[in-house]
Amino acid sequence: MGGVEIKPGIFWVGAIDWAVRDFHGYVTPNGTSYNNYLILDDHVTLVDTVKHDFAEYTMENIRGLMDPAKIENIVVNHIENDHMSSLDRIMELTPRATIYISDRGKKGLDRFYDTSRWKFKIVKTGDTLSTGSKTITFLETPMLHWPDSMMSYIREDKLLISQDAFGQHLASAARFDDEYCDQYSVTALEHAVVDYYANILMPFGTLIKAKLAEVQKLGLAIDMIAPDHGVIWRRDPGKILKMYLDMAEGKADRKIVIIYDTMWHSTEHMTIPLAEGIKAAGVEVDVIKLRATPMSVAIKKFWESRGALIGTPTLNNIMFPSVAEFLQHLKGLRPKNRIAGAFGSFGWGGGAVKEAYDTLKSMGLETVEPGIQVQYRPSVEDDQKCFEYGKQFAEKVIEYHKKFIGSEPVPCKS
Ligand code: FEO
Repeated sequence: MGGVEIKPGIFWVGAIDWAVRDFHGYVTPNGTSYNNYLILDDHVTLVDTVKHDFAEYTMENIRGLMDPAKIENIVVNHIENDHMSSLDRIMELTPRATIYISDRGKKGLDRFYDTSRWKFKIVKTGDTLSTGSKTITFLETPMLHWPDSMMSYIREDKLLISQDAFGQHLASAARFDDEYCDQYSVTALEHAVVDYYANILMPFGTLIKAKLAEVQKLGLAIDMIAPDHGVIWRRDPGKILKMYLDMAEGKADRKIVIIYDTMWHSTEHMTIPLAEGIKAAGVEVDVIKLRATPMSVAIKKFWESRGALIGTPTLNNIMFPSVAEFLQHLKGLRPKNRIAGAFGSFGWGGGAVKEAYDTLKSMGLETVEPGIQVQYRPSVEDDQKCFEYGKQFAEKVIEYHKKFIGSEPVPCKS
């Protein structure tokens, strides 16, 4: 124990959660990590804590380096439970430490703890904390991920401690991007970044763009980005900045995902000629059955694709429950720059496809209407109609996608 030195005098002292598979409802097949950082300087400073179950892990790491009672400052960049819920344990060891936190962070913290016994310094963008040889500059980043959120930039080391942003849910012995890529692959890391962004940060694209522009305007030189989850960006911090700029722009691949559920396999059967029609138009296609797939995987597939076809049978005149749940979840993530259509089977009255369109339109997504519906069981003629509909939808996606080609933003300098 004793952490990992990431810059001279700055140590990762976090915890790896190898076992978590459900992170507040988000499926994490690869676990995660809770990263926090200890600055050993004239005034010892801890940046962030970890989830309460892992308090002993971080304290052991800290003890491996120094006596925790000597911590003078604790920076709380974000008050969500996975980063803040061992603060009380750490404060027991170093009760005279000063907590540096945003105004909204302090107000939120008051709801979790009796904070009257602790010393606080409320900080805002541009405020600094000298640890001796190093200077931490605070940068408020409201809604990335909560209203309280902020980042800590250490000028002397060109290090941005970025809290949730730029993170990934990955449990790994690798602490750095280069180590992870050497052990697995660049693609595996990229997938983890997209998965995290799609499921957690998708609603905040506009804010992310604005915040990255602010960082660029401040002229902060960055050669390492240390998030509070997953690996630290050491080899190529510019890569993650570029990925975030692209994702904040709503960048997607020119492909289509069919996301559906089914009662007696009629809607499922429709996916086959639909996918064939899409392929015939020269567009890649993925097919996702909701009850066989974790929600977070379906969300990631949706996010990666420029076009989506939503398939739902009618049940009691409305959408099938798993499809309704998916669309409701998606709506909260406020997707943009995607085009969608809907299809499904019905017995007598119908209603699900219309409801799917209503929901898609309420999100502000462009839609291709009408969708395609089949009564009871698809016939050979219905298969042909589905094929043609898939082809036409793919042609619309090809046209729609052209609007975004060449519009990728210029990356921040790193
Ligand atoms: Fe990793 Fe918003 O907490």
